[in-house]
Parts: sequence; C-alpha cells; structure tokens
Amino acid sequence: MKEVARDKWSSKLGFVLAAAGSAIGLGNIWKFPYSVGVNGGGAYVALYLLFLVIIGIPLMLAAITLGRKTQLSVFGAYKSIDKRWSFVGALAVICGFVILAFYSTVGGWVLYYFKNAITGELNSTDPAALAGIFTGMMSSPKILILYQLIFMLLTIVIVVNGIKKGIESSSKIMMPGLFILLIIIAARSVTLSGSMEGIKFLLIPDFSKITMDVAKNALGQVFFSLSIGMGVMITYGSYLGKEENLLSTAVSIPVLDTLAALIAGFATIPAVFALGFEVGEGPGLMFITLPAVFASMPMGQIFCIAFFLMVIFASLTSSISMLEICVSYFVDERNNDRTKVTLTVGALIFLLGIPASLSLVEGSCFKLGSLSFFDMYDKLSSNILLTTGAFLLCIFVAWVLTTKEAVKEIESSEVDFKLANVWSFLLKYIVPIGVFVILINSYKDFIVALFQ
Ligand code: PHE
Repeated sequence: MKEVARDKWSSKLGFVLAAAGSAIGLGNIWKFPYSVGVNGGGAYVALYLLFLVIIGIPLMLAAITLGRKTQLSVFGAYKSIDKRWSFVGALAVICGFVILAFYSTVGGWVLYYFKNAITGELNSTDPAALAGIFTGMMSSPKILILYQLIFMLLTIVIVVNGIKKGIESSSKIMMPGLFILLIIIAARSVTLSGSMEGIKFLLIPDFSKITMDVAKNALGQVFFSLSIGMGVMITYGSYLGKEENLLSTAVSIPVLDTLAALIAGFATIPAVFALGFEVGEGPGLMFITLPAVFASMPMGQIFCIAFFLMVIFASLTSSISMLEICVSYFVDERNNDRTKVTLTVGALIFLLGIPASLSLVEGSCFKLGSLSFFDMYDKLSSNILLTTGAFLLCIFVAWVLTTKEAVKEIESSEVDFKLANVWSFLLKYIVPIGVFVILINSYKDFIVALFQ
C-alpha cells in the first residue's frame, strides 16, 4: 500500500472549500427543492433539519475525525484499525459508481441548459414553453448522452490532474459566487406576486404528511447532500493537519451546505407557485422553473448564464470527489497507474450512466419493476448505499475505534469539546438505532419496488 507522505491542504480554508465543494452540488440546488416538492413541503424540511442536527452533523464529525486520526483515505482508515472492516471501502467504491452514473446525467442537463442560456433559448416565462424545452431534451437520446459524456470528460480531466490543484484554487471564486447568485434569485422568487403560497409551503410543516417514505427520503438526502456514507469526508479529513479544529469544521460544512439547500429552496419553490408550475414535478423542477425567474429579472439572461455556469462548477467539485474515491481505491490499494485507472473507471461509470439517462425518455425499456434506472440509481445510492455506509461509519467510530479515542483525537488540537458526552451518546445509541430502523424499511421497499 503506498500511502506515505500525504499532502496537507495548503490551508484550513483549502480543506473547508474542498469539503464544502463536495457537499454543495446538485444535491442542494437541484435535488433538495424538488424533493421538498415531492415529499410534501415544510414537514420534509423540518424533518431534514432534525436529521441534520442529530445524525448528519455528528456523523460529519465522526468521518473527519476518523480520517485525520488515521491519516488514511476511506479504505486504509477502516483497515488500519480493524482488517475485518475493509469491506466498507468496497462499498464506498460501488456507491461512487452508482451515484456518479446518475449524477452525470443531471450534470449533462446542466451543461445543456448552460448552452441554451447562452443562445437565449431559455428566455421565456411561459410554463408550457419551458416544460417543452425540458421534455425536448429528455426525448433526445443524442443530447442526453452527448452532454453526459462531456460532463464525465470534465470530471475525468480534473481528477487526472490530481486532487488539490483542481479543487482548491477555483473554489475560492466559484463558491461565494454561487451563494450570491442564489440569494439574488431567491430574492426575486419571493417577491413575485403569488409567491406567498410557496413560502408557506416551505415553512409551515403539515406533520400529517410525515410517512416512513418521507423519513427515508429526508435521511437519504442528508447523507447525499453532506457527501457522507461513501468515505469522501474521511478521505478529505485525512489531509487535515493535526493542529486543525475538527469541531468547527464539522459544523461549518453542514451549515454552509444547508444554507445552500434552503436558499435554493427559496429560489425555486415560491416561483413554482407564483408562476403556475407543478410543485410535485420531480427532477425537472429546477430546469423548468428557474429560467422563468430569470426571464422576469432585468438582465435575466446574464444571470441565467452565470447561474448555470456556477452550477456546473458546483457539480464538478462534487463529481470529482466521487470519482476520486473510486480512483484512489485502485491506485492506493492496488498500485495501479493513476491516469489509466481514472480513464477506465470514468469510462465504466459513463457506460453505467447511459441507461440512467435513457430511462427517462418516454417509453424507455430501461426499467426494473416500477422504477426507471434513473430512479433506481437514485434510491439505491441515497436510501440504501449511503445510508448503509453512514450506519457502518457510526458503528465503527462508536464501537470499534470507540468514542473515547475519537474524543481524544478531537481534543488533541487543543479544543475543549464540551458536548463530548452528548456526541458519544448520539453516536453509540441514537444514531445507529434511528438509521437502522429507516434502513430496514428502505431495503424492504427497494426490493418490493424491483419486483412490482
Ligand atoms: N453532496 C453532493 C451534492 O449535494 C453529492 C455527493 C454525494 C458527493 C456523495 C459525494 C458523495 O451534490
């Protein structure tokens, strides 16, 4: 295993930007708003926030701590403490393959919309016209696959050039840019006439809407959005120097991530109500709604171009973290050539992603039971693989590494971890039990859906 002489981030900011870059992506801007719509609004948002605080943030701290303690990426980290746990590394690779396969589909949509923004084709507030552009894209296998390919190529090029160069430098401009733009769009969206219904939909929880399904989706979304459960945060944390404060990091990334998701929610949902779109639309929601918001703004086209450019960037900082996990497994653990591995793994993921892209075309045969391949990859990755990975991470840090050791590691950088007992209790009992109950249900439902 060649894992010596690890680079450190050139600064703490470098780590935060890279980790936040992985966390903030399509999960926040595209998936969160449409999930809120599909899962019933405020109650889903409330549940998401609850899971974030009692499960997401504690696990974020667990992941970063495990990484920094072992100074190893996900495979080495588990293996170095207990050999029997090496399988978690394999799970992470499988998870990376599945997520990136459908993530690149949506990445392709964003690229295509960027092109349309430049050519001015998105300039309309008419729901029917905008829905038409989306459906037009969805019914063209050529467009879908071409743009998915471009997205994968961009991801591959960055990963081939090494982890730090690509991520660190550019994040410093693009991330703040994305936040500023999202805030501007949200400001426009909430001031459209008729937006109040949407604001209420987001903020006022109707708790009767909470079902096991909603809970599953909210928990899966927490893991998906924070990039937890497939080792990204363990690996990134392993680059942190021993002097860094893990606590502030483990809180600031989820806070930034959640802010991005909520602002994206406010950018999308009020406009959906104001402009007469369908809130339960599903994956197309952002693509048909936001162009209408831009069209109702002065200099809308410029905002539209800048927005899609920044979303491309945000999704790339996420997709490279997924590909990086898969690639580093074959490089670190199997001593293969980095460039060759990246090209091969990237090509395989692209192939795996083609059925996901094509499965949304009308009358597509890429369905398993009642699920399209796209939905299957989505459910399989968030609700099953990431949730399983997060469950194992929790058990591992709580009971194998032990929370006592973990707390020692956290406090080694001269911080006083006042909530150490609360964190340990959550990690040992509440999180594993809560996640387990939901996970069992996800397995059951997933299997049932495949055979329907
Ligand atoms: N967190 C990313 C997003 O929200 C997706 C992601 C999931 C990235 C898992 C890495 C690992 O877009």
